[in-house]
Amino acid sequence: MSKAMWGGRFSKSTDEMINEFQASISFDKRMYHEDIAGSIAHATMLAKCGILSEKDKDAIVKGLKDILKEIEDGTFDFSVDLEDIHMNIEKRLTEAIGEAGGRLHTARSRNDQVALDTHMYVRKEIVAVEGEILNLQEALREAAEKYKDVIMPGYTHLQRAQPILFGHHLLAYFSMLARDFARFEGVYQRADILPLGAGALAGTTFPIDRQMVQQMLHFESIYNNSLDAVSDRDYILEFLSAASILMVHLSRLSEETILWCTREFHFIELDDAHCTGSSMMPQKKNPDVSELVRGKTGRVIGHLMAMLATVKGLPLAYNKDLQEDKEGIFDAIDTVKFSLAVYAELIRGMKVHEDVMKRAVTEDFSNATDLADYLVKKGMPFREAHAVSGTAVHQCIEQGKYLEDMTMEEYKALSPLFDNDVYDAIRAETCVKNRNSFGGTSYQQVEMQLKAAKELLTAEHKAQEANADKQIHIEA
Ligand code: ARG
Repeated sequence: MSKAMWGGRFSKSTDEMINEFQASISFDKRMYHEDIAGSIAHATMLAKCGILSEKDKDAIVKGLKDILKEIEDGTFDFSVDLEDIHMNIEKRLTEAIGEAGGRLHTARSRNDQVALDTHMYVRKEIVAVEGEILNLQEALREAAEKYKDVIMPGYTHLQRAQPILFGHHLLAYFSMLARDFARFEGVYQRADILPLGAGALAGTTFPIDRQMVQQMLHFESIYNNSLDAVSDRDYILEFLSAASILMVHLSRLSEETILWCTREFHFIELDDAHCTGSSMMPQKKNPDVSELVRGKTGRVIGHLMAMLATVKGLPLAYNKDLQEDKEGIFDAIDTVKFSLAVYAELIRGMKVHEDVMKRAVTEDFSNATDLADYLVKKGMPFREAHAVSGTAVHQCIEQGKYLEDMTMEEYKALSPLFDNDVYDAIRAETCVKNRNSFGGTSYQQVEMQLKAAKELLTAEHKAQEANADKQIHIEA
C-alpha cells in the first residue's frame, strides 16, 4: 500500500524521483496563510451546515491556528512526500488533533482549494503591488514638482525635437503608471471571485453554503460554474499581462535613465548609493539598477508567455499543468514589487544637471518649429513657413551658428514678415511657455498636471486602502 494521502487504490509508493518532480511544496508554501484562512472558513461553514460537528470544527480551527504559529515561528517541517502546502497542513492537522482533522476535506478538493488559495494570494499581492506603484508615482510627482522649471530637449527618433519641461517628461511616466494602477484594479476584480465549493470539478453532494464562505473570505462574487472555477487562470494571465506592461514602462524609463547618465548626455547623476563600480576600471559608475530593471522585464514577459502556452491546449477541468501557474506569478510579483521600490529610491536620489539640459536646447535647433509658428502667426501658410525655417536652419549649420545668432538682415532676406520680436519668440522659455494647449508642456499646463496628479494619487490611495481592508488576516 502507498502511504500517500490519496494512496488507497495504489499498491506501491510513488517513485522517489517522480515524487520530487511533481511536488510543489518548495514554492506553494508561500500560500500557507491563505490555505489556513480558507480551511478555517470551510470548516466553519461545514459546521454551520451540519456537515461537521461543532466539536470537530473547534478542534480543526484551533489546530490550524497552531499550525499557523508553527509555520510563522519556522518550526513547521515541510515534507516533499506530502506534495504541496494543502496536504502538508492537512497531514499535520490530523497528527495533532486526530480524526477530526480527517473530516476537514469533506466537500472539498485540492482543485478548488488551490484555486481559492491562489485567488486570495493574488488579491493580497495586488494590494502590495499597488502600494509600490503609488510610491513610485509619488516619487515621480515630487521630482516633477522640484524640477518643474527645468528645460530639456524633447526627442523624437532620439533626435532633439522641441524644448519641453523635465517635469513634463517625468509626468508622462506618472500617467503610464496610473494606467498600470487601473489595470491592477481590474485584475483585482477578476481575482475577487470565490472558487471554493466547486469540488474537484462538478460541485459536491453535501449541502454546503458557498455564500457563507464568500462572506467570511470577503469575495465580491462566486464562480457560478464549477468547471470554470477550477480551471480558470485568467486572473493569473491578466496579472502577468499587467505586470509585463508595467515592467515595459519601467524598462523605457530605465533606457532613458541609462542614456541620461552617460557622459554623452550627462543630464542627470544618480546617487552613489544607487550605483556600482567596475572591478577593473577605476573611473566607472554604472547605472546597474536601471540595467537590471530593463533586464528583468524580459523575465516577466517570459512568465506571461509561459502561462499563455501552458493554458493554451488544456481541456477542462483541472490538469496538473496548472500547477505551473505559481512559480511564474510568484516571481513576477517579487520582481515587480522590488523593481518599483528601487526605482522610487533612484528617482528620489537623482541629481539633475539643469545647465546641461538647457544647453542641449539652446545650442541646437529645437526652436525651429517655433520659428515657423512665428511666421504662421504673421499670416504665412504653415507649409511655406516650414520651408523658410528649414532654410534658416540650413544656413546656420553652414555658418556654424544657431537661429538666435542670425541678424535681422539675414531674417528679412528670408521673409519680410520677420521683425525684432522673433528673438523672443525663439527663446527656449518662450517655446515652452507658448505650448499651452491642453496637455502641452507649458509651465501652466504642467502646473495643472501636477495638481491633477495629486488628486489622482488621493483617489488611488483610497482604492488601494479599500482593497487592503478586504484582506483576511488570521491571528495565530
Ligand atoms: N499542487 C496542486 C497545484 O498546485 C494542487 C492541486 C492538485 N490537484 C490534483 N488533482 N492533483 O495545482
